[in-house]
Amino acid sequence: MRKTGKTCLYGSHRSLEPEGSLPQPAWRIDNTPVIGDDELLIRVDTLNVDAASFTQLEQAAEAEVARSGGTIPERMAEAILDIVARRGKLHNPVTGSGGMLLGTVEEVGKAHPAAASLRPGTRIATLVSLSLTPLKLERIKGINLDRDQVEVEGRAVLFASGIYAAIAPDLPETLALAVLDVAGAPAQTAHLVRPGDRVLIIGAGGKSGLLCLHEARKRAGVTGKVYAMAHSPASAERAASLGLADAVFTADAGRPLEALAAFQQAAGGQAADVTINCVNVAGTEMTSIMGTRDGGTVYFFSMATSFTAAALGAEGIGRDVQMIIGNGYTRGHDRTALACLQENARLRAIFEAWFV
Ligand SMILES: NC(=O)c1ccc[n+]([C@@H]2O[C@H](COP(=O)([O-])OP(=O)(O)OC[C@H]3O[C@@H](n4cnc5c(N)ncnc54)[C@H](OP(=O)(O)O)[C@@H]3O)[C@@H](O)[C@H]2O)c1
Repeated sequence: MRKTGKTCLYGSHRSLEPEGSLPQPAWRIDNTPVIGDDELLIRVDTLNVDAASFTQLEQAAEAEVARSGGTIPERMAEAILDIVARRGKLHNPVTGSGGMLLGTVEEVGKAHPAAASLRPGTRIATLVSLSLTPLKLERIKGINLDRDQVEVEGRAVLFASGIYAAIAPDLPETLALAVLDVAGAPAQTAHLVRPGDRVLIIGAGGKSGLLCLHEARKRAGVTGKVYAMAHSPASAERAASLGLADAVFTADAGRPLEALAAFQQAAGGQAADVTINCVNVAGTEMTSIMGTRDGGTVYFFSMATSFTAAALGAEGIGRDVQMIIGNGYTRGHDRTALACLQENARLRAIFEAWFV
């Protein structure tokens, strides 16, 4: 049973290991689905797992299947249930990342900031990470390998500071969830890219990459240039079908010298003013840094980014670039991300085909 007493706006009252810490860095938190006065209880049906976390869980499941049989979804379900049982939250211990969830408001604490306006029964998506959200899973009903989404039965708790978005009835929920999970990327792109900029997007055919492509083209304008680095032919085709990039090319961003050569060929040897890293695997820091001009900006949205690799790598090649950590939150990020779909019918069609 959850300890009662004074609650903290940020959820530190639920941190068990170490006690009193903030819930994101905590190893384990109290996931008892009984809320305090300023908390929110959600009946959860879908988890949108962070792409870096999902990829890691899938790769580990593949290795487990090769060792001892079963199916990839079965092994992934076991791993997810195990993490949540051990930590009280879906906080992947390897990638350190989480994701977000979709569910129905079950109870609103009487001192919660939205107590006067939010009604039980409202469909919401959380905009704070699963890596800090108390979660209790009853069962996993299915794993969608194409969407990085997991169907579950469970309950979650949102702290008083936890932001969420009510799901608009005109947007399919699984689509809204996928877009909102990466909402920080297009919103930051909107802040960073100026008219006339040369922009390189790495992982341009993924969810955040496609949204950034739209926003980068819009902000760089006709005098700017937008280059889309994709990985597989399939994601290159998705990026190209938007018709927004000046060039779409494939490269493995984990192999910086080769990836840089491919970018230079596409961009006529010019480096980027702004580079946006949207990949879901580790080891792509140097491609981002080497592709950016001295004095330019690298925005690391990828959760697989290593602070050490980026800082020491930039120093190692003597490149004076500003490097930005991809804060998942930017003011108004949910509206910016959803607006991309309203503004661009092709983009919406791609997301509908993928997530509905
Ligand atoms: N900062 C935040 O708050 C925040 C929030 C949510 C997500 N994220 C992170 O943002 C990243 C992108 O998320 P997402 O949902 O957009 O992922 P996604 O849809 O899975 O897209 C990732 C893309 O990376 C590409 N990629 C993989 N390996 C590559 C390589 N070696 N070289 C070049 N490209 C490669 C993939 O291409 P292929 O499919 O062709 O391999 C894919 O298109 C993830 O790391 C995720 O954890 C951050």
